Amino acid sequence: MCGIVGVLGKHEVSPLLVEALKRLEYRGYDSAGIATVDDGHLDRRRAVGKLINLSDTLVRDPLPGKSGIGHTRWATHGAPTEVNAHPHRAGPVAVVHNGIIENFETLRAELKAQNFGAETDTDTETIALLAQSYLEDGATPDEAVAQTLQRLEGAFALAFLFDGHDDLMIAARRGSPLAISLDDGEAYVGSDAIALAPMTDHLTYLEEGDWAVLTRNSVQIYDAHNQPVERPSEPITPEAGRVEKGGHRHWMAKEIAEQPAVLDQALQHYIRDADLVMPNDAVDFAKVNRVVMVACGTAYYACLVAKYWIERLANLPVEVDVASEFRYREPPIPEGTLAVFVSQSGETADTLAALNYCKGKCPIVAVVNVEGSSIARAADVVLPILAGREIGVASTKAFTCQLAVLAVLALKAARDRGTLTAEQMDAHLDTLTRIPALIAQALNIEDELRDIARDLSEARDILFLGRGAMYPLALEGALKLKEISYIHAEGYASGELKHGPIALVDDSVPVIVFAPTDPLFGKTVSNMQEVMARGGKVVLVSDTQGLSSQRTTWHTAQMPDVAELWAPILYAVPAQLLAYHTAIAKGTDVDQPRNLAKSVTVE
Ligand code: F6R
Repeated sequence: MCGIVGVLGKHEVSPLLVEALKRLEYRGYDSAGIATVDDGHLDRRRAVGKLINLSDTLVRDPLPGKSGIGHTRWATHGAPTEVNAHPHRAGPVAVVHNGIIENFETLRAELKAQNFGAETDTDTETIALLAQSYLEDGATPDEAVAQTLQRLEGAFALAFLFDGHDDLMIAARRGSPLAISLDDGEAYVGSDAIALAPMTDHLTYLEEGDWAVLTRNSVQIYDAHNQPVERPSEPITPEAGRVEKGGHRHWMAKEIAEQPAVLDQALQHYIRDADLVMPNDAVDFAKVNRVVMVACGTAYYACLVAKYWIERLANLPVEVDVASEFRYREPPIPEGTLAVFVSQSGETADTLAALNYCKGKCPIVAVVNVEGSSIARAADVVLPILAGREIGVASTKAFTCQLAVLAVLALKAARDRGTLTAEQMDAHLDTLTRIPALIAQALNIEDELRDIARDLSEARDILFLGRGAMYPLALEGALKLKEISYIHAEGYASGELKHGPIALVDDSVPVIVFAPTDPLFGKTVSNMQEVMARGGKVVLVSDTQGLSSQRTTWHTAQMPDVAELWAPILYAVPAQLLAYHTAIAKGTDVDQPRNLAKSVTVE
């Protein structure tokens, strides 16, 4: 993870670097730092914790210079201390790094034997030390970087600065994304378009193994074999730069609230004039006999919901796997397989690696929020979820938009395979297009959910239950709660409770049950009774009919009626609001919870 930025500018770069880092803070916020070259003099400032601490440091101790690099860190190797913060420096070299150097221990031992001793616990410092060692052997900065890159194993996006060189920045990429730009006598390097959007309107994405030597007026890109190459320049979409909290206290609150609007937008993109429109018709489910879906975290839970939909509507077997397992299991990909990768950021390292494993073996669909992302660029077909930029670390609107797009994909599968009648298809399309309005109604119960959350905030452990397509939602509810409130929570399929987890239940354990009225409602009620018989405190989230049959629960939350198949999209809202208000009651950092980062670009 980590975010990196670099600027060879016409004016002082410290404020620009800090501003760009603010936009990259979603990649990590354990520490931040910048380095500049000012009249040939290389220097740096670093601070532990959020970016505001670096800004304070720079007020006390400004860093002049028109050339600079910056970094916001999610710690991998070494604790989040100032010493371990980037940029790392070794003699005349400063470097910022996103990724992991896997052979750093070996390199470190080798460098130590040559008297290039490390001062930090990080893998990154090894890169600076290697470059320093080559410079001291007489290499130019370009040569030193080329030799350094050859020694590195692992994943990296890098930006280098050199003492004595005001007009030089070197960037390199292997495994982690990196973009560069030359614009009107200034040069830029950044982890993504979001970082650079206010400074330039076009970008060149470096390809795997590329490295680039930049000055204010020139750029030379080399491929992994050090051959000069040309890479295309692409315009940055104006939306990449625009982000505002719109009066909300937290990004997460804003992103929860805007779900009716973004879902409507996403659905309208795929359903027009009451008909299914897949903008890219490359997938023909009639030729598919098996779907593999791969993702991480919340996106993985969206896939689990979609499994219920695709199997039920299209009679097509679906396997769902977490990317970190799939990528190393080397699963067989028989003919007729379609692989679907779901990722909000489109940069998740494990999901990208899993996709690369499938490349050339079967058609690949990417369901992403960031359309220019690495996962989108590697896929055969891209289905954007159109959620708009998501900043809160806990995914909310991206989850519901992922569900909406996967719902459409399930209907497309059914249409291609002829498993639904025209009337059934029309009814599903009609229901789906009504979901945004139902979500707006569900948002109206926020006050009740806030009261429930106040009670939940006292708990040490919380269980979430659901059946059928609501089971993945129980998993998502538990994930959301634990990541922002730090309360231990687990999601279970309701029927699994008595196979072990019920041992946890006593009068201190709230059990949240997502149960719209459906053919299995009665069975879920039995599971609830089992919990209550053991003193467990049930919070039942259901519709009018479901709640009317239950009078002895601890709390209830009343949801609008919805066709049971699509209920997970709607019930995501109370899951999110319960987590949000529990975190508020506990006073945790909702948008930037501890130990997490928005985009997980390391495995
Ligand atoms: C949880 C959350 C994470 C992400 C996961 C995958 O709220 O946001 O679990 O869903 O890290 O990220 P993407 O979707 O960017 O691949």
